[in-house]
Amino acid sequence: MRILFVCLGNICRSPTAEGVMRQQLERAGLARRVEVASAGTGDWHVGNAPDSRTSRAALARGYDLSRQRAQQVKAEDFAEYDLILAMDSSNLRDLQALRPANASAELDLFLRRYGVAVEDVPDPYYGGADGFEQVLDLIEAACASLLDEIKGRS
Ligand code: 4NP
Repeated sequence: MRILFVCLGNICRSPTAEGVMRQQLERAGLARRVEVASAGTGDWHVGNAPDSRTSRAALARGYDLSRQRAQQVKAEDFAEYDLILAMDSSNLRDLQALRPANASAELDLFLRRYGVAVEDVPDPYYGGADGFEQVLDLIEAACASLLDEIKGRS
């Protein structure tokens, strides 16, 4: 199974989701069966490491994002991945517009699908340090439910 997390810049929210989910899969012994990646709808940060504030906040909770590099989502990803998860509703709309008619991947809004109380992971880019902690809180909660779903399938 292959999962792609998508946000706007691929330097804050979706890299966090990739790092959190990879660690949860490793701990559950499922890392070999489920591959995770992330991408942005925009191309401004392609090739860059995650935002330093994102990396710092993630590392403080034990998630190492240092090997990640930003990439832009492309139409072919709808054939490469089984599940594409948008971090907010604007990302979801952009993905729906990019989605080829014959796409095999399932596309959904990450927090809504996994029953977290808010629908959108707020963009922390222009805000303060709290924003990065909130991103981690929301993503950790949704990833735990995603892991349960994966366990239920296997
Ligand atoms: P992300 O955050 O979508 O969570 O990676 C952002 C990063 C960069 C920009 C916007 C959002 N930007 O405008 O450059």
